[in-house]
Amino acid sequence: MKILRTIAEVRAAVREVRAAGGAVGLVPTMGAFHEGHLSLMRAARAHNDLVVVSLFVNPTQFGPTEDLASYPRDEARDAALAEAEGVDVLFAPAPAEIYPDGFATTIHVSGITDVLDGASRGTFHFDGVATVVAKLLGIVHPDVAYFGQKDAQQVMVVRRVVRDLDLDVRIEACPIVREPDGLAMSSRNVYLDEHDRRRAVALSRGLDRASALAATGVRDGVVLTDAVRRVLSDAGIEPEYVELRSLTDLSPVAELDGEALLAVAARVGGARLIDNHILKASS
Ligand code: PAJ
Repeated sequence: MKILRTIAEVRAAVREVRAAGGAVGLVPTMGAFHEGHLSLMRAARAHNDLVVVSLFVNPTQFGPTEDLASYPRDEARDAALAEAEGVDVLFAPAPAEIYPDGFATTIHVSGITDVLDGASRGTFHFDGVATVVAKLLGIVHPDVAYFGQKDAQQVMVVRRVVRDLDLDVRIEACPIVREPDGLAMSSRNVYLDEHDRRRAVALSRGLDRASALAATGVRDGVVLTDAVRRVLSDAGIEPEYVELRSLTDLSPVAELDGEALLAVAARVGGARLIDNHILKASS
């Protein structure tokens, strides 16, 4: 596996494979790899000739009061894990390579970024994500880029950028990878102490409860979100949001019909955690 720092080096590596007719897969990440990241690398490895993983803690998607400075960083560990998954290129640029002096462009997706994490964290967050992902797609020109359904709204934002800007790439959303007790894997789980780690499972338990209710025919959005709130409250967790929203435009869903996104965000001790299920109305 090559560790590359510059855009020019990545382009050269991709050009070679492209010229030979090979398919290129990209997995954008901010490092601190866990099984969730590794599952995306495996999906990319299974379907492409060249697998590029980007490792860049993107400063523009963090707010001034967020965890940019303390975000877990261990490039040597990440490189070893990526190499073990058969990744060909780890693109780990310095911030100035991505945002050189004079950088002046921001991609803003309207509408779907006004709710959930966009409302909770602020619009800067998805502006930062959309802009850096567009740049990574422009740098690597992958055939397929892999994202986790854990960040369901992020996948929707990326798909919208790709559609609206006519980018020639397929976006693949991969299932949420969970700890054995159900907690969605996240680089931020390292912020949880033992007590909070036990409480944190309430997010996935609450979503499980709501999915079970939906399976028995419950369709009322308030009943479904209240089921999550109750499990969280029993664990002493006050959510930032628990919402049932449309999978097409994230508009609120009052009555489950077909499929909808049930999304939750909550601060648990030192960590801000998110999780979601796609609920299906039982027929
Ligand atoms: P990061 O949080 O490092 O996540 C990188 C990718 O891994 C994202 O697509 C995310 O959805 C996926 N992922 C994280 N936890 C997962 C889990 N438990 N199961 C499955 N996939 C999981 O998301 C980002 O970085 C950044 O916003 C980025 C897209 C790289 C732009 O900076």
